[in-house]
Amino acid sequence: MHQDIEQVLVSREQIKTRVKELGAAISRDYAGKDLLVVGILKGAIIFLADLVREITIPLTLDFMAVSSYGSSTTSSGAVRILKDLEVPVEDKHVLIVEDIVDTGLTLKYLLENLRARQPLSLRTCTILDKPERRMVDVEVDYRGFCIPDCFVVGYGLDYAQQYRHLPDICVLKPEVYRR
Ligand code: IMP
Ligand code: MG
Repeated sequence: MHQDIEQVLVSREQIKTRVKELGAAISRDYAGKDLLVVGILKGAIIFLADLVREITIPLTLDFMAVSSYGSSTTSSGAVRILKDLEVPVEDKHVLIVEDIVDTGLTLKYLLENLRARQPLSLRTCTILDKPERRMVDVEVDYRGFCIPDCFVVGYGLDYAQQYRHLPDICVLKPEVYRR
């Protein structure tokens, strides 16, 4: 195990099983529909790569990058688009793929922003959900795991841009934050 990791919270095996289930549900729900999967950079890329390979219906992929102003472990609610979609969405069923829904502020912003472009439908998928931390109401349509209020890294999630490549979802040792 990586020296900065205190504990594995969700193992790669658990992730694999759950991602298969999510892919099957999405394939069922969107059968016959024109699906555009929108990955939110950078945190969602590992999940997105696994998820789309479990989806058995045709789809297209695009990306958005957003940044929320705030410290590295909390978000302030002010969201800025760093990279926008390359395609219009009026003729698509859009599924937003996120790494984690924490306060919900990022997802709320994304939903409002994309809804204004009038897609045929708009839903959300996240590998992790921290419901205890929610500050605004957002609809999560596909959820990997609910986790307690703790900061996690790995499987795409970072602390100060580190640890995204770890295959499991992990809790860092407290001293890492004090460095
Ligand atoms: P929200 O706007 O508070 O819901 O935060 C969403 C974003 O905050 C996520 O896309 C992550 O980039 C980041 N974030 C929230 N919780 C964690 C965590 O436990 N580990 C790593 N990043 C997190
Ligand atoms: Mg982040």
